Amino acid sequence: MSDKTPITVARGDGIGPEIMDATLQILEAAGAQLEIEEIEIGKAVYESGVTNGISDGAWDSLNRTKIFLKAPITTPQGGGFKSLNVTIRKQCSLYANVRPCVAYAPYVKTHHPKMNLVIVRENEEDLYGGIEYRQSQDVMASLKIISRPGTERICRYAFEYARANGRKKVTCMSKDNIMKISDGLFHKVFDEIAAEYPDIENDHMIVDIGTAKVAAHPEMFDVIVTANLYGDIISDVAAEVTGSVGLGGSANIGADFAMFEAVHGSAPDIAGQGIANPSGLLLGAVQMLVHIGQGDVAAKIHNAWLKTIEDGIHTGDIYRSKEDGGVSTEKVGTDGFCKAVLARLGQSPSTLTPVDYSSVPSGGLKLPPLKPRVTVPQERVGVDIGINWDGSADDLAANVQACEADNLKLQMISNRGTKVWPDGKAGTFCADNWRLRFMADDGQGVKTSQVIALMQRMNENDLNFTKSVMLNNYDGVPGFTVAQGE
Ligand code: NAI
Ligand code: MG
Repeated sequence: MSDKTPITVARGDGIGPEIMDATLQILEAAGAQLEIEEIEIGKAVYESGVTNGISDGAWDSLNRTKIFLKAPITTPQGGGFKSLNVTIRKQCSLYANVRPCVAYAPYVKTHHPKMNLVIVRENEEDLYGGIEYRQSQDVMASLKIISRPGTERICRYAFEYARANGRKKVTCMSKDNIMKISDGLFHKVFDEIAAEYPDIENDHMIVDIGTAKVAAHPEMFDVIVTANLYGDIISDVAAEVTGSVGLGGSANIGADFAMFEAVHGSAPDIAGQGIANPSGLLLGAVQMLVHIGQGDVAAKIHNAWLKTIEDGIHTGDIYRSKEDGGVSTEKVGTDGFCKAVLARLGQSPSTLTPVDYSSVPSGGLKLPPLKPRVTVPQERVGVDIGINWDGSADDLAANVQACEADNLKLQMISNRGTKVWPDGKAGTFCADNWRLRFMADDGQGVKTSQVIALMQRMNENDLNFTKSVMLNNYDGVPGFTVAQGE
């Protein structure tokens, strides 16, 4: 049996083929043990009528190798086409997106020469579930999903990553002062997992000030773990602050599948000119080699790359002449940069810190199984019913109260999350979609049949509901929030 690792490679669109060619040349020359299968994805596949940009044949290769080195692709604009990246992340459960953001001062201009952080972004949940509704003529809604196992996995990954890579601190970012249940869970699970890693410092920041600190003082951070949307935003801020998006590599990690790429897109504006910086994809490939247990080859490439940057051999995106206050010595295209890295294989940087991946376990980080679920007593105490209505809150309440029966009583009406009945404020603006909260008033809990009967009576009174959500207490703690002003 060959000891080469089978991987799937896609050359992508735009500058993709140029930077992949440079990357593969360097991988081979450095002695990476790879058995490459090539697939076609992206623009041509979309245009042939495959709406998600990837054919069944390409899936066969991915299912076989489970390791994907992918150049950027062009996602066609407009309806019907689905993002290939999102499709692959979700179908392969690539739950962790890992993006190192490092400054290479003084060789690449940045205001933050000491910056060296890694963002571990949850990659499957949050608002990226794409569960959205038009609830009325005027109101649209998007559902944010945060699960305990999903959060446990990403937080543990961040701590395991920190430990394996000699990093000292993990910072969690969330907005749990506002989203007390969803982000509250993220923060709580982070604290639980952090307690298992006493050798790693941990802290939590509210995401808005945290992002501001990443922009202004990125050297404060080591590893950042956060939910999908915050991670999307913070990682672009952080990449930009290092000096160029063209330098960032990215790993998408699942339990038994992983995808490696550049942070940037297909750069159609410079495609075919031979001037693209191959560094992002090359550093993505370095993450891949570490992941598949070829850390020695990864370090060899990474150190040769650092030496090239240090020697001032730069592509146009980072080139800065002496007259311009820079330290670049030679402006090269994709191929010239590739040749410069090839010539330095075996060398290490002298000013920048050389990398060493020998402590990273082979075969990717292996996480322990998820903690068993702790099931607590669950009791249904009420129901929220959504409704479209163009009149006043008081008229709506009067109409709805006529439908009450049993122990299920209208307790509150809110509009866009703010309480408007009882005792609403006259100045509160109301859109055309309302939430009615019914609670059991006798402490006896609520049966499904009672909810159905209530909806039946509302329906007979032309009160057409748009949705219903059951309200439960878990171990006596409400599994729902109160409205603003309630
Ligand atoms: P982009 O990242 O392709 O380009 C932004 C700017 O950065 C452009 O001026 C480009 O010339 C420059 N740039 C990017 N990579 C560079 C490199 N390696 N060397 C030198 N300069 C570089 O972002 P844009 O223009 O928003 O998107 C272009 C296409 O890429 C779109 O179709 C988009 O959907 C797709 N895209 C694909 C991604 C992927 O496959 N992972 C990720 C992001 C965008
Ligand atoms: Mg993004």
